[in-house]
Amino acid sequence: MRFALALVSFASIIATGAAFPVSFVNGTVTTPLGTVTGTATIPGVFRFVFRYAQAARWRPATAVTTLQSMSALPPVCPQEILDTGGQWTGNEDCLFAVLYVPANFNGSTIVWFHGGSLLVGGANDPAIDGSSLALATNSMVAVVQYRLGVLGFLPPPPNNNLGVRDAILALNLLHTILPSFGGSSQTVTVAGQSAGGMLIRAIIASPSASSLFSKIILHSDTLNYGFYNASTLTTLQNNFFPTLNCTATDATCQNAASLADIMEAQMDFSPADFDPSTAGPIMFRPVHDGSLITTTLTSSFPSSLKPLLLTTANDEGAALIFGGIDFVVPSFAYEAVLDSVIPDFRADAVLNSSFYQLDSSDPDSVRDELKDIVTDLGWRCPDWTFVKAWAARGGSVFTGLFLRGGLHSSNINIAFCNSSETHVCHTDDVPILFGTQASPSAAQSALITEVQARWNNFVHSSTPNPPTLPTWTATTSSSVNVFPLGGSGPIAAGACAGFWGTPTAPFDYQMFGL
Ligand SMILES: *[C@@H]1O[C@H](CO)[C@@H](O)[C@H](O)[C@H]1NC(C)=O
Ligand SMILES: *[C@@H]1O[C@H](CO)[C@@H](O)[C@H](O)[C@H]1NC(C)=O
Ligand SMILES: *[C@@H]1O[C@H](CO)[C@@H](O)[C@H](O)[C@H]1NC(C)=O
Ligand SMILES: *[C@@H]1O[C@H](CO)[C@@H](O)[C@H](O)[C@H]1NC(C)=O
Ligand SMILES: *[C@@H]1O[C@H](CO)[C@@H](O)[C@H](O)[C@H]1NC(C)=O
Ligand SMILES: *[C@@H]1O[C@H](CO)[C@@H](O)[C@H](O)[C@H]1NC(C)=O
Repeated sequence: MRFALALVSFASIIATGAAFPVSFVNGTVTTPLGTVTGTATIPGVFRFVFRYAQAARWRPATAVTTLQSMSALPPVCPQEILDTGGQWTGNEDCLFAVLYVPANFNGSTIVWFHGGSLLVGGANDPAIDGSSLALATNSMVAVVQYRLGVLGFLPPPPNNNLGVRDAILALNLLHTILPSFGGSSQTVTVAGQSAGGMLIRAIIASPSASSLFSKIILHSDTLNYGFYNASTLTTLQNNFFPTLNCTATDATCQNAASLADIMEAQMDFSPADFDPSTAGPIMFRPVHDGSLITTTLTSSFPSSLKPLLLTTANDEGAALIFGGIDFVVPSFAYEAVLDSVIPDFRADAVLNSSFYQLDSSDPDSVRDELKDIVTDLGWRCPDWTFVKAWAARGGSVFTGLFLRGGLHSSNINIAFCNSSETHVCHTDDVPILFGTQASPSAAQSALITEVQARWNNFVHSSTPNPPTLPTWTATTSSSVNVFPLGGSGPIAAGACAGFWGTPTAPFDYQMFGL
């Protein structure tokens, strides 16, 4: 019996012959690792919160052997509080999972890895409350925290990839307990957004994790950035630990440092001063070490590729440009500002190309073009390159573009993002997928329904094509076939065809040979 006082209908078990349709009264579940109690979030969904692992600072974590559930959301991992100037929050004891389980759970699990540049974020973001998504997809939605920043990705040698190892440990533990909830370990989808996508790529590139999931969903993956090579990690280790007045190998000194000292050292540390391949917002990344992570997913791929659903947002670069430059830029300043946004030879290539020409009828043309440049270089073009490579290697893949979004809290003070739901800034797709958008318009509600129905079909049947909806055509090695979500197509390739990703204007991972 899964849930205490479960009211299991034998007739429906016989009728489906598959997973138990579980209903429950107070959400108490007995697992091989002990009994956990959930709290109701919305009618029909219980939330279970527990620690899945414990870790000494900068050491691989160990899975817990007994689950202890709590009702509150867990503390986040240590992280800078953005926009407050040098303040930080969080707790090193942060390896928690939050499960949202619907009463009609019939087997499929979506494990969600949050975004935030592998530096910030956690299960406490109201946008990723999994209740609505769990209900709409008959799925358990498991939001998993992992170590961030230097504590997750810059441990002293010989350790590495701690945040990735945390995530894999969580997937392993879920396999142990899923059957107790009526779940099947054969139907786990790993899903995530932004740098959560990079974390998932690291999981995909880790053969030891390959039996732990069967499908992949990537939202706005930061595919312009590759994994670090081992020598970059060494460079960062050799330069970071001295800022704590420790050597890279002095564990006693590292353990004696206060968390405040470590967080201040992280906030003061600028990896790009030591290795140009670390430029950009994801300063601490998974490392292609050849033992845990054995492929790059740029030039080398696993031999067997799982079904993939990948989306981007139409205005990924808007938060950076309109959030970072809060005035209308005159056209004479285009080149100077472009040089600061892309501080290398690619800025000249942009000016010399037929793309991103200023439009004299648009008074805000400079920021509009910069927004498109960042969208294309950062997400759209590397993501579309990736899906074609996936298809070329025989992987099934569907690619979508959000032309309408919600409004994520990170974008509420950016006029471009908050002025129209068809301005889809980075992360604005998350409140659509999760159905957490406050006061959705009719069009947003329709999109939430469509997206949840398509994702439901994908996690159960590997295609985003329920019979009732228009067909979303799969990506091929030569044609991305981008499906418009919340708008209409066709979607033009623009500078993704023949410009970005070529020697004239390479992606970052190409520039640095990653
Ligand atoms: C509800 O949960 C508690 C644990 O919190 C458990 O002891 C009890 O048996 C469950 N059932 C009822 C009806 O309370
Ligand atoms: C689970 O429910 C979904 C509908 O939400 C359905 O498509 C799927 O076939 C069901 N799976 C099982 C094993 O009953
Ligand atoms: C490292 O040592 C310097 C010089 O003694 C000192 O100013 C600084 O506060 C120390 N930093 C830490 C993190 O202990
Ligand atoms: C500018 O474009 C021309 C032709 O389109 C090309 O030959 C030249 O190399 C380009 N220069 C730069 C700096 O990209
Ligand atoms: C939208 O952003 C603008 C510009 O920062 C701000 O003044 C305004 O209050 C925001 N609107 C909402 C509804 O948050
Ligand atoms: C690792 O990457 C850096 C940055 O691109 C590069 O300078 C270095 O040569 C690379 N090292 C190896 C061993 O590939």
